[in-house]
Amino acid sequence: MTCLAFCGLRGGTGTTSTVAATGAALLSIGAKVLLIDLSPENLLRLHFGVPYVDRHGWGRSWLDGHTWHEAICDIQPGLGLLPFGGLTGAEHKNLPDTFQAFLPAWRDHLSTLADCYDMVLIDTPAGERNVWPLILECGLRVITMEADPACFILLTSLPRHTYHHCLITRYDPHSRLQRDIRLSWQGQLGDVLLEQVIHRDESMAEALGQKQTVGSYCPDSLAARDASNLASWCLTHAGAHP
Ligand SMILES: Nc1ncnc2c1ncn2[C@@H]1O[C@H](COP(=O)(O)OP(=O)(O)OP(=O)(O)O)[C@@H](O)[C@H]1O
Ligand SMILES: [Mg+2]
Repeated sequence: MTCLAFCGLRGGTGTTSTVAATGAALLSIGAKVLLIDLSPENLLRLHFGVPYVDRHGWGRSWLDGHTWHEAICDIQPGLGLLPFGGLTGAEHKNLPDTFQAFLPAWRDHLSTLADCYDMVLIDTPAGERNVWPLILECGLRVITMEADPACFILLTSLPRHTYHHCLITRYDPHSRLQRDIRLSWQGQLGDVLLEQVIHRDESMAEALGQKQTVGSYCPDSLAARDASNLASWCLTHAGAHP
């Protein structure tokens, strides 16, 4: 079982949408996948039709003294989802403590899932330093970033050991600025930058409006094809990072 964490270089780069789409695409090529939402916004589940009012999730279970596994929803055979869970305002304020208390059990929790899943994809919130100790345990870490000046600058201050690969998201090939930034990253990052991008595609936003992943909402869309290619890349690299 390979643990692959996707982490936004900043907020809103499309990390959650990409994790949802790639998870569903992995299932469609025969992998058993668990998606874990580490973002307190608790939005990943909405891509799979989980009702907004549903409060189940690992954070809720942890705070209520239950086991992690109880909060896993079986979306389809072979596709599990572990939402963050619904927390109260006071519980949100104590998030650093929650993450810190959860950390020692993280590795044990994951190892118990090794027989059930081929891959675990983790949706990591941007700028949430408390989750990094968990993320650094993942065999494969991918930074999601838009080809814009903000991400260009932010990448320069991200310690190199924290990630294995970078993925350009919401890419618009018609934008000269984005093309230039991509070219510059290709020169700087070499193989670290994935050749595959996730294109800017309205179907991705519409899919969430339909509480679906882009692959089920619009299978022929550019973003769905990108996610499918990314899923194949994930499987290929799973062997390289056990
Ligand atoms: N490839 C894409 N093309 C067009 N719109 C996209 C794409 N990916 C995501 N979006 C839209 O961009 C917005 C942010 O996406 P998403 O929530 O997936 O980003 P995020 O990085 O997880 O954000 P956050 O940092 O808040 O967790 C949403 O409205 C989503 O529908
Ligand atoms: Mg997100």
